Amino acid sequence: MTEKKQKTVVSGIRPTGNLHLGNYFGAVRSFVKMQSEYRCYFFIADLHSLTTHPTPDNLQAGVKQVLAEYLACGIDPEQATIFIQSDVPEVVELYTFLNMNAYLGELERTTSFKEKARQNPDNVNAGLLTYPVLMAADIIIHKAHFVPVGKDQEQNLEMARKFATRFNHMYGHRLFPLPKPFTFDGHEMIKVPGLDGSGKMGKSEGNGIFLYEDPADIRKKVMRAVTDSGPTMMNQEKPEPIRNLFTLMKIVSTPETVAFFDGQYNQCVIRYGDMKKQLAEDIIAFTAPIRERILAIRNDEVYLARVAREGAEKARESAAKTLAEVKALIGLKRLW
Ligand code: ADP
Ligand code: TRP
Repeated sequence: MTEKKQKTVVSGIRPTGNLHLGNYFGAVRSFVKMQSEYRCYFFIADLHSLTTHPTPDNLQAGVKQVLAEYLACGIDPEQATIFIQSDVPEVVELYTFLNMNAYLGELERTTSFKEKARQNPDNVNAGLLTYPVLMAADIIIHKAHFVPVGKDQEQNLEMARKFATRFNHMYGHRLFPLPKPFTFDGHEMIKVPGLDGSGKMGKSEGNGIFLYEDPADIRKKVMRAVTDSGPTMMNQEKPEPIRNLFTLMKIVSTPETVAFFDGQYNQCVIRYGDMKKQLAEDIIAFTAPIRERILAIRNDEVYLARVAREGAEKARESAAKTLAEVKALIGLKRLW
């Protein structure tokens, strides 16, 4: 075993829709990179998705789709443990314990909670409030050192560190390592923008470009991207919608292509239509092979079921070990 295989990585994605470019470049690309070097646990966060009350059929379809997409992106079940969160009930037990030391004030102050409560004032449920506690349980139950996630998860990850630290202090043990964010290139955590003018690309934002998407639909979406009437001064600063277009291009296109359109922008001769056409083709060149693999794997239910079953076994083994240590520290191990 290499030195690095001794360090542990955990991350998950909710099965709330097909994976989009934000999920890929914010998270999955790092999963693929890390799997050969670290002890990796990648899961499908079906319990987390229950906060928005999916129908049973939608939930199952979503879990299967994300599993197929993980595999199509190149996560290898021989190298990484791939599992479905609800197959590992130990996580829910740890969540209960952590909840006893998670305080209403700090949970209410979490940005994503406030945001979701504002968006859906009729569904401010306790699961939503304690969402970061369940996420902390996911991470620390495998004693993770690194968590590859996008920028939007930065605060949730900070809370995971807080809960881990609190448990360690409370029971006078360094049981849990403090999980750090992992970024693909060792720099900033990434935020892939949407093409609707502002904000991030997201499943619930309704602005996703999906790995599974038909090329014709990708072209349509990219051609509809918000732009403006064009620069009027040489080298002028780019407004947000234009910056977003360039950000996406930096992600999928070659540096030469980006430099070309950047030059055109700075010279005030850019034709956004040309830029969008190029961007659409570069996105398709990237997604098309993944889409082919998704189509093939999705239909192989026997294979998908085997991956999920074997992953669950490995994840439960690791989780049960930590849970036994936690219970002993808390005083739940019977000594009589
Ligand atoms: P979504 O935000 O689309 O609902 P999830 O919340 O399940 O998807 O996110 C799964 C992973 O993808 C997380 O690591 C998250 O940080 C990452 N992610 C989602 N959207 C983006 C984005 N626009 N840019 C970067 N990373 C993202
Ligand atoms: N909260 C994450 C998201 O919405 C998904 C998630 C759940 C997760 N548990 C996790 C990510 C543990 C990393 C580690 O994207």
